[in-house]
Amino acid sequence: MSNPIQGKRIVLGITGSIACYKVADLASKLSQAGAAVDVILTEGARQFLTPLTFQSVTGRRAYTDDDLWGSEAHVLHVGLAHDADLLAIVPATANSLAKLAHGQSDNLLSVTALAATCPLLLAPAMDGGMYSHPATQANLTVLEERGAKIVGPEEGHLASGLVAMGRMSEPAAILGAIRYHLSRSGPLQGIQVVITAGGTREALDPVRFLTNHSSGKQGYALAQAALDAGAEVTLITTSSLPTPVGANVVSINSTQEMAEAVLYATTKADVLLMAAAVADYRPAQIAEQKIKKSDDDLRIDLVRNPDILIQVANQRRQADRPRVVIGFAAETQNLRENAAGKLQRKNLDMIVANDVSAADAGFGVDTNRVFLLERDESEVELPLMTKSEVAQIVIDKVVQFIQ
Ligand code: PMT
Repeated sequence: MSNPIQGKRIVLGITGSIACYKVADLASKLSQAGAAVDVILTEGARQFLTPLTFQSVTGRRAYTDDDLWGSEAHVLHVGLAHDADLLAIVPATANSLAKLAHGQSDNLLSVTALAATCPLLLAPAMDGGMYSHPATQANLTVLEERGAKIVGPEEGHLASGLVAMGRMSEPAAILGAIRYHLSRSGPLQGIQVVITAGGTREALDPVRFLTNHSSGKQGYALAQAALDAGAEVTLITTSSLPTPVGANVVSINSTQEMAEAVLYATTKADVLLMAAAVADYRPAQIAEQKIKKSDDDLRIDLVRNPDILIQVANQRRQADRPRVVIGFAAETQNLRENAAGKLQRKNLDMIVANDVSAADAGFGVDTNRVFLLERDESEVELPLMTKSEVAQIVIDKVVQFIQ
């Protein structure tokens, strides 16, 4: 499996809003991700940008209304969207939304949109009053009912000086939405995957907590890889990393909160990937007020936290859900031996073991060095790679387990 944008043909329509200056970056990122991007500029967009801008970043010809009446017009007017995987109109002005809603076809982009049979994604951008006008709202409703995916707009500073709804979503969010929509027919289509990420936090008082060095990076990489494979993802997390587009995020702090969220989400889920670093102990008492400094030493009593994976194993015995459970093992010594023990005790299908004492693996960094140990005792030792690459390999395993 690769990223879902790789090898896709995307027609990128650009209409005349000042937000279109951001779209060169989007076209570039789509091309870098491996898409063939065919750009169509309306006359309005041409007032802001030239075809050369897009030809330079996509390496492909960019089209304008001159082409609608040129020598290739008979092919282009239906041909541009033929075989396309997606038509994305970014930004989509109020005028272009009105044309699309009413099936008008008076320029190359609207002709192409009318002829297209591929999914349509729209990123509206306009002034606040135009966006909230009943005509625009009605047009958006019609387009959504016909299946168009609408990304944004957001509230923010507009070209008119107003702060209102109408600001185009950022290219990163639009790229994420395109990635998500292109992934839906992947091998995990319809499969519910629950993923945990980050280090749990155990409160001592209203301002202090005990935790560990987990950043959530490995768990978020798993979430992105699962989404790319077409899964429905619930991400139970203590981390505030940017949310992968399409994931349903459940934010929690403590181990008890994580246990509750995991047990609830996995009653219906197919897969659990437990990448969170879970605190085994918590303070016996949480002080109601900030603990005051004194001249004496301070002792804190700790009590055992529930083992979430063992609770899931019990649930699995009764309800047969989740069908696949993969744990992680964070070790500083006897990596293989300790991981094998956890695989058995927690009734896992696979454990991903990492040596968290290495500087380039485990907590916080972007890379990891893991070995995968399965219930049938088969094991694979992997070299140092990015956490995204580790995630991809784990998700490939999930695809095998689930079939
Ligand atoms: O978040 P990053 O900075 O990217 O770092 C990634 C990571 C090092 C946190 C990750 O790769 C990892 O190793 N996660 C597991 C950390 C951990 O808690 O390991 P453990 O060996 O203590 O626990 C074994 C398994 O049991 C884990 O899947 C853990 O989530 C689970 N567990 C642990 C304790 C507990 N009370 N309940 C549990 O379910």
